[in-house]
Amino acid sequence: MAKFDIAVIRGDGIGVDVIEEGIKVLSVAAKQYNINFKFTEFPWGSDYYFEHGRMMPQNAIDTLRPFDAIYLGAVGHHKLQDHVTLNGLLLPIRRAFDQYVCERPSVLYEGVSSPLSGKKPYDIDMMVIRENTEGEYANVGGFQYLDFPQETGIQTAVFTRHGCERVITYAFELARKRNKKKHVTSVTKSNAQGYGMVVWDRAFKNVAASYPDIKTKSILVDAACMEFVRRPEAFDVVVASNLFGDILTDLGGIITGSIGLAASGNIDPEKRFPSMFEPTHGSAPDIAGQGIANPLAAILSAGMMLDHLGEATAGDAIEKAALAVLAEAKTLTPDLGGKATTSQVGDAVVVALG
Ligand code: NAD
Ligand code: IPM
Ligand code: MN
Repeated sequence: MAKFDIAVIRGDGIGVDVIEEGIKVLSVAAKQYNINFKFTEFPWGSDYYFEHGRMMPQNAIDTLRPFDAIYLGAVGHHKLQDHVTLNGLLLPIRRAFDQYVCERPSVLYEGVSSPLSGKKPYDIDMMVIRENTEGEYANVGGFQYLDFPQETGIQTAVFTRHGCERVITYAFELARKRNKKKHVTSVTKSNAQGYGMVVWDRAFKNVAASYPDIKTKSILVDAACMEFVRRPEAFDVVVASNLFGDILTDLGGIITGSIGLAASGNIDPEKRFPSMFEPTHGSAPDIAGQGIANPLAAILSAGMMLDHLGEATAGDAIEKAALAVLAEAKTLTPDLGGKATTSQVGDAVVVALG
């Protein structure tokens, strides 16, 4: 029997509720597919901060290192500045475990309607590969003269050839593996960001040369936003820098019905460290505590976690069960036009698992 140690960080707001459903579904799939999960919960996040003055303990990274994977809800609290919560938990984990690929599917599933008119199921079917450790999120910069009129913040974007080439290579390999349109789109802004994004473009050209079977396109991020709305069916694999990938995947979420369906994996493809799976959405303070958050993004992220752990059969079963609940369109949360609660959707996925 395969055995996996999973670190669970529910975090804040709806993160707590959606992870509950993810664990519910994982536990049932584990029984069906002869997998032994050991879930270890870490009560880190904003409540931990209010008590201890930090989002997670000083030795958190060492604590997480031996785990096979990390399953995260979301962090973010209205009483704390976002740079404190996110630089105190999510971003250091991505960097410390060199989770340099962030994989985010945007798929229009059966039973879900897109706010874009005339889109049929699977007209939108893309995978956004987001660079996840450097770029605009490199932890380089500082403040000068805080509280003076000349208050200054310096934020440096870091684009390395190595960092760009490895994530772009992952995107090309994925386009081959998906075997759909065999197409990779690079999202850039080298017309204005004339250093870092030029390194990005050069890396894209270098890597593309090794994949003559894959068609390519390089597109500026502003135009990419427009094309996500005008012609999303044109995309297959999209590779983007950290910030551009962040923005485009919220857009990818809504054009495929709801951010509550957008799964995400922060992956170390070399498997040196635990990878981390989490929904793309945040802690959603506007609906937190109401029991109406859509848990499917978290559940689909759990399916991605199983794939990553080498349990693709169980991972596919979770995905199929979630999609069956959508296709049936009876048990849906309000973001998808339904009246179901978070836990009712989790229960429906369990039923669909059989
Ligand atoms: P958000 O994703 O939390 O919410 C945006 C909108 O989408 C809200 O209207 C929310 O109700 C809705 N929504 C999100 N997830 C949903 C779900 N599962 N079901 C139904 N509706 C859903 O983004 P935000 O409001 O910009 O950020 C809130 C907080 O979360 C901030 O503190 C932010 O920094 C943080 N955040 C954390 C993560 C993370 O930890 N991975 C990701 C994004 C944002
Ligand atoms: C995401 C989130 C994070 C990001 C924030 C909360 C730092 O928006 O995972 O998409 O920008 O990476
Ligand atoms: Mn985001």
